[in-house]
Amino acid sequence: MSKKLRIGALASGGGTNLQAIIDRCQDGSLPAEIVLIISNNQDAGALERARKAGIPALCIDHRSYASREEFDRTIVGALQDAEIDLVILAGFMRIISEIFVEAFPNRIMNIHPALLPAFPGLHVQRKALEYGVRFSGCTVHFVDTGTDTGPIIIQAVVPVLDSDTEATLSARILVQEHQIYPRAIQLFAEGRLRVEGRRVSIDPPDDYCPQSLTNPTLR
Ligand code: GRF
Repeated sequence: MSKKLRIGALASGGGTNLQAIIDRCQDGSLPAEIVLIISNNQDAGALERARKAGIPALCIDHRSYASREEFDRTIVGALQDAEIDLVILAGFMRIISEIFVEAFPNRIMNIHPALLPAFPGLHVQRKALEYGVRFSGCTVHFVDTGTDTGPIIIQAVVPVLDSDTEATLSARILVQEHQIYPRAIQLFAEGRLRVEGRRVSIDPPDDYCPQSLTNPTLR
């Protein structure tokens, strides 16, 4: 059997994306293993999920470090000690520095709850509603030194309904997040992602061309 991809996960919050990935690793549908979970927040649900799944976890509190770089060096050291192949950010609420990105070039993924490059940053479901877009969604991308600017791997689109609140839109997007994040990791594990400049190609490709979508629907 080929070697499983070794994943290090960083999470600050509830960790539902993390759980979706843990589940796929455990049921064997993802040829990967989460070997280390790091949180900067000792109350993160992600740490409890790690404990339940029997995955080693560390809490590294950013407030104990004088600078972002010093904090990142500690995290990079822990990930390197654990011989991580891929780092996944799963609701990790810290901006990571160049030191971190350069330690894992094109080997850090993030999930963002909007269709990048629209709505980078925080509170993006609210911003999508306020802007009045008819579609939003989520994006899995490689992490570069910008905020939510790295090469895009997969996106999923959801409609934005007139009746939506921030909570209902977030919930609709989250369902898709739990689908596309494991899938992006699977493509990486299979060695199928090629990054050239901003573009990520999938080789061999997943050729499927759905009809276009409109929202509201044309009848
Ligand atoms: C998700 O919406 C993700 O896109 C964003 O932070 C949220 C984390 O949710 N980066 P969870 O902790 O995975 O439930």
